[in-house]
Amino acid sequence: MMNRFVSTIQITLVSAVLLGVESAQAHEGTTGIVKDRMDRFKASKESVKQIKKALKTKDWSRIQKEANDLQQWASEMSNFFPEGSNGKPSEAKDNIWSDWEGFLRSVESYQEGTEKLVQASNNKSLEATATAFKATLKSCKSCHNDFKAD
Ligand code: HEC
Repeated sequence: MMNRFVSTIQITLVSAVLLGVESAQAHEGTTGIVKDRMDRFKASKESVKQIKKALKTKDWSRIQKEANDLQQWASEMSNFFPEGSNGKPSEAKDNIWSDWEGFLRSVESYQEGTEKLVQASNNKSLEATATAFKATLKSCKSCHNDFKAD
């Protein structure tokens, strides 16, 4: 009687643990890369915020660091959109994959903006940096208009 009671508890515990592992894996499998790119996008938004601040105080080392981060992300972004990585909870639109060339062009214009931003901030040119920053922000918005659900 006691034994049966104990083993019932054990089975319950084991299956609870197994279920936990299983759902964690399902979560990982379907949303791993989506979560990764969301984190990168969030970080890029933070970089934008920091650059805005740093432009006011002409904190060039800060601007340069954040510009480099944005440029790095721009160069990697397309790898974070493997086919089939749409659907909930992602806000990525299906046309990313049906118009992959168009998406790549959008990534490219973002890349160009961030490269100019890196250059201009290395040269410590306030005007060129502000111009490149504006162009970069425009490319964020333009891609969101075309490829991100709101
Ligand atoms: C070439 C396309 C493209 C560019 C350029 C781009 N984004 Fe996005 N962004 C997306 C897509 C697509 C998503 C939706 C990702 C998802 O939910 O799977 C997204 C999502 C986001 C999110 C939401 C992340 C979350 O937690 O859900 C933020 C914030 C963001 N982008 C900020 C930016 C900023 C800031 C820039 C420019 C510095 C930028 N993005 C440039 C395509 C782009």
